[in-house]
Amino acid sequence: MSPWTFHSAGSLIFGRGTVEQLGAVVDRLRAKRVFVVTDEILVAAKLADAVTAPLVGKTVEVFTGCKPEPPLEIIRQAVAAAREFKPDVVIGLGGGSNMDTAKLVALVLAHGGEPTDYVGDCKVPGPVLPLICVPTTAGTGSEVFSLDVSTTTEKKIKVSCLSPYLRPAVALVDPLLTMGCPKTVTADSGIDALTHAIEAFTAIDQATFLKRPPGGETVYQGKNPMADLMAAEAITLVSRFLRRAVADGKDLAAREGMALAATLGGLAFANAGVALVHAMEYPVGGAVHVSHGAGNGLLLPYVMRYNMSVRSQEFANIALFMDAAEIAADDSVNAPRAIEAVENLRADIGIPTRLRDLGVTEAMLPGFAEKAFSIKRLMRVNPRFPASADEILGIYRMAY
Ligand SMILES: NC(=O)c1ccc[n+]([C@@H]2O[C@H](COP(=O)([O-])OP(=O)(O)OC[C@H]3O[C@@H](n4cnc5c(N)ncnc54)[C@H](O)[C@@H]3O)[C@@H](O)[C@H]2O)c1
Ligand SMILES: [Zn+2]
Repeated sequence: MSPWTFHSAGSLIFGRGTVEQLGAVVDRLRAKRVFVVTDEILVAAKLADAVTAPLVGKTVEVFTGCKPEPPLEIIRQAVAAAREFKPDVVIGLGGGSNMDTAKLVALVLAHGGEPTDYVGDCKVPGPVLPLICVPTTAGTGSEVFSLDVSTTTEKKIKVSCLSPYLRPAVALVDPLLTMGCPKTVTADSGIDALTHAIEAFTAIDQATFLKRPPGGETVYQGKNPMADLMAAEAITLVSRFLRRAVADGKDLAAREGMALAATLGGLAFANAGVALVHAMEYPVGGAVHVSHGAGNGLLLPYVMRYNMSVRSQEFANIALFMDAAEIAADDSVNAPRAIEAVENLRADIGIPTRLRDLGVTEAMLPGFAEKAFSIKRLMRVNPRFPASADEILGIYRMAY
């Protein structure tokens, strides 16, 4: 086994009602001026109140302008408001979109410049403002991760900053905050969590990963035993609870199961990495209106089919985690059942199955394939390698 390390948020607080600990959490960070980054929907849902109520004795400003799949313009507005306020801690409250916006606020306030100055791997020069992430969806795992994703309107593609310095100081995961999450967001973010766990669990092993181009400093490492454990549990939990959470948002056990699944999936991919599904979703999400989770959920079984020949043992295990296979059966029998299990789940929760249904045209596919092919940091994690631009185009055509 090659050596490995494991990273998380500075501390992880999980459980019902833990949002009430936020005052103490902020005190431990020795902070007095708290900038909360969120959106109008979460204000109306009283979740912003739930976060600010425990901040007794602190000066608090709430930025409510966040939007899903954060456009650069909104990030700039959040940064401008924070510059004016001069916080000593930033809280990201919401789904991945708001938590990612908060990360960029904490980054730009610490180091200046423009959010786009830090796009790429390990471009952040040092620690950012202390950051607390409080998810209200169960999916992205952004609360324990070191990545920030935003959409550039100029290039019509999502870009990301990956840096160890973007890991939040504190991840506070209170499943009660996800109870009002709408059906579609629950489904989309839930299948994103599954995608994280499956891509981490089937990632290339670390020794091979390190030999692959482009090399250089990166926060990903390829598959490792700790990430495997987290991914396996995340897949099991999603398979057990996602249908329930979508069918009945008030099913607390299902919400709690999904909150844990999302955080564990985040921990798995934050260390192992995500791969071809995410690389292929970025151009789609930049070009047509689809959430990150739904785009991933749509593409996931197609990419699994492409990768199956080199990861049959892992696929067979995924089928077992999802209760879709017999323990006694051969890997070659069980591996395809993982794909069927994902397809069944995707259908049951209403994720689209064809790119054409999202407004993608056939003429867009070659451009998507070129863009996905160029995201080398994700390709490098994929178990089947190198995926050529032609092969990627082939997968898009199947998904079309
Ligand atoms: N940084 C990372 O590690 C990472 C990983 C995966 C995805 N992402 C990014 O995260 C984004 C997607 O995040 P998401 O799936 O969490 O959704 P989201 O943050 O885009 O939220 C979608 C909508 O749901 C609403 N919402 C969220 N929680 C709610 C609640 N409890 N009650 C009522 N409404 C609620 C929000 O107001 C928003 O309008 C994408 O931009 C994606 O690229 C980031
Ligand atoms: Zn994702």
